[in-house]
Parts: sequence; C-alpha cells; structure tokens
Amino acid sequence: MKILMVCLGNICRSPLAEGIMQDKIDQYALGWTTDSAGTGGWHSGELPDPRSIATARDHGIDIRHQRARQITRRDLDEFDHILVMDASNYQNVLELAQNDQQRQKVELIRNFAQPGHNLQVPDPYYGGNDGFERVFDMLDEACEAFIRQYRNAE
Ligand code: 4NP
Repeated sequence: MKILMVCLGNICRSPLAEGIMQDKIDQYALGWTTDSAGTGGWHSGELPDPRSIATARDHGIDIRHQRARQITRRDLDEFDHILVMDASNYQNVLELAQNDQQRQKVELIRNFAQPGHNLQVPDPYYGGNDGFERVFDMLDEACEAFIRQYRNAE
C-alpha cells in the first residue's frame, strides 16, 4: 500500500500528514509506504514550515528529513491512495488524472474519520501556532481511521 498526502504548498499540512502516517505505519508494523506532495511547486526543495516541524516534534515525530515537491502525473499511477486536505486540492489533483482508476484514488482525508461529511483540513499557513495543533489532531484522527479501514484488507 502506497499513500500520498497532498496539500497546496507541501510545507504545512501534508508534511504533518506524512509524518503522522509514517509513525503509525511503524507502530503497527504495516509495511506500507507514504510520501507527500503539493499541487503547487513554489516551495519545492524546502523543509517543512518550522511550525509543522515543532508541532510534529511535540508529538514525538521528526519530519526534518522531508523536502517539498510538486505532485506529478506519475504519482497518480504510483500511489494507491491520494489523500487531499481540502476541496481545492481535490479539484487540482482531479485535473491531473487521466482515467477513472486514477480519479478513484483521490479522497478527502477527513472523510475516513467522518465519512460523507467532506470536512477539510484548513490551511494553517497564515494563522498562529494553535492552527497547527488543530491540524495535527484532525490528521491524527483521519490517519487512524484510514488504517482501521485498510489494515486487514490487504
Ligand atoms: P500547505 O500550506 O498547503 O499546508 O503546505 C501552504 C503553504 C504555503 C502556501 C500556501 C499554503 N503559499 O502560498 O506559499
């Protein structure tokens, strides 16, 4: 199972999502892989936002090895699940998809915890530090629910 986390810049939300999912993959010894990317490429090559690094660290997760990159068409073939943070990410990734098999891989990440509600992970970039902690909690809940759904299904 290969899981790609996607947001806009790949410096705030999706690096946290990747770190949280990797931590759970390790804890549950699932043997899955996870990565993250942005729909935009402005921050390519950069480390995660310092506030994402600090929030992850507060929860015992180190994401400092991550570097931002932009999503490519090939990712839609390579990964089994493309988990997006908000409706704009969803639209942008769907525009890259070339067939129904690829389109079916794209899912709003919070729908695993609150099915059918189409809740979003808000962009914390322009807010304060508490925004990052709230994002962490949403992502932790969503990743846990994703694993519950798929861990015995392979
Ligand atoms: P992210 O947050 O999509 O969670 O990584 C953002 C980071 C940077 C920008 C937008 C969103 N930006 O426009 O630079």
